[in-house]
Amino acid sequence: MLVNPIGSLKGELTLPGDKSITHRAIILGSLADGVTEITGALRSDDCRHTAKAMGTMGATVEELGGDRLRIQGCGLHGLKEPDKILDVGNSGTTMRLLAGVLAAQPFFSVLTGDQYLRARPMARVATPLRSMGATILGREGGNFPPLAIMGTHLKAIDYVSPIASAQVKSAILLAGLFTEGETTVTEPSLSRDHTERMFEALGIPIHRNGLSLRVESIKKIPSFQVDIPGDFSAAAFFIVAAMVIPGSELTLRQVGINPTRTGLLDALRSMGGVIEVSCRRIISGEPVADLHVRSQALHGTEVAGALIPRMLDEIPVFAVAAALADGSTIIRNAAELRVKEVDRLAALVKELRRFGVQIEECPDGLVIHGGASLSGCHCDSWGDHRMAMAVAVAGLAARGSTTISDSSCVSSSFPDFWTRLDAILPGAAIPYADVGRTSNLALGTS
Ligand code: S3P
Repeated sequence: MLVNPIGSLKGELTLPGDKSITHRAIILGSLADGVTEITGALRSDDCRHTAKAMGTMGATVEELGGDRLRIQGCGLHGLKEPDKILDVGNSGTTMRLLAGVLAAQPFFSVLTGDQYLRARPMARVATPLRSMGATILGREGGNFPPLAIMGTHLKAIDYVSPIASAQVKSAILLAGLFTEGETTVTEPSLSRDHTERMFEALGIPIHRNGLSLRVESIKKIPSFQVDIPGDFSAAAFFIVAAMVIPGSELTLRQVGINPTRTGLLDALRSMGGVIEVSCRRIISGEPVADLHVRSQALHGTEVAGALIPRMLDEIPVFAVAAALADGSTIIRNAAELRVKEVDRLAALVKELRRFGVQIEECPDGLVIHGGASLSGCHCDSWGDHRMAMAVAVAGLAARGSTTISDSSCVSSSFPDFWTRLDAILPGAAIPYADVGRTSNLALGTS
């Protein structure tokens, strides 16, 4: 992909549906009795992998027009043994949440993924699920996919997770729905709470006590209707782009602003950024609003501690904001970034240095010396959707052209990222195009 610098971003846009919520709606809809209807669903590779896996086990997940999904659920105890390996591609959320469901099924299943997912640690879900009674085998001592799971009647546990991970928490909560007795999970700081909110919205009893959650087995999940808000993580690229590209003014409509997800807004505010939030409302148990962003000067900051899980997926694009801010920004307590789709700390250091950014790598974070202008370059996505979109934002703000190799990986979470971006670029010159191909995308200017 070729990205040229632009003068400004203007206009308004809606974002695709939230990825985390879409996964959860597909899983719970497949376990429900009857027909579940989802609007605002994200249609991306990752969510399709969840749908396909649930389909292999007996649910019917149909893509209707627009962003609607219809699911014929098979009931809480109606999943059937998959007759083939469940390949969930690049989707860590699918693998970890399904591990929780599969641990409780009276059958054998195997989960695998692409080369990136097969390199991601699974002991974080396998260990608690084994202590509930499931047999889970994997490579390298059981830590890496493929995972072979023999489910069973689980026993309840009281699990204290060493990491703030919504995937771990959700795997245990889903397993807990099939488990007699009280299953409790406690996390060190709050990770995204979409599973809890969806349980509450569906009437599935869940008790919150500080950072602890408790569930018990249930008899059934009634079918439901859910409307999924725009994905804050998708909005993040546009929020940062509008802030750092002079003269920009953007309105992002109907974005999920669940506080467990909006750490980026707090971080940008601590850099002097102003983001207006209007039309706050609740949709299907999730807070939603319109966000208005204008370009503005930012200064360096420090992000650490409980803020990190609230902005984990946004750190690649936050690093771009930091590179363009005055002064230094320190990111600490973010070692989890090393086990995302790729090692995002290493990837950011390598790719931002190509733009001329002074950046230092620490075991659990980054020090970014901002203020210098960025120079266009040839950079690589590392096959990671969020890296591809973050370096695209850097490219829009840089002097000279940037080419990004392996840019099609945006399909994991945001298949039409490039066309949505195109829609808010002012028209005149081709702002970006597939390298080596003629673009028929709309035009932009500097
Ligand atoms: C997700 C949880 C987070 C996040 C991921 C989606 C989820 O992962 O990074 O993109 O939907 O539960 P961790 O649980 O590993 O922090």
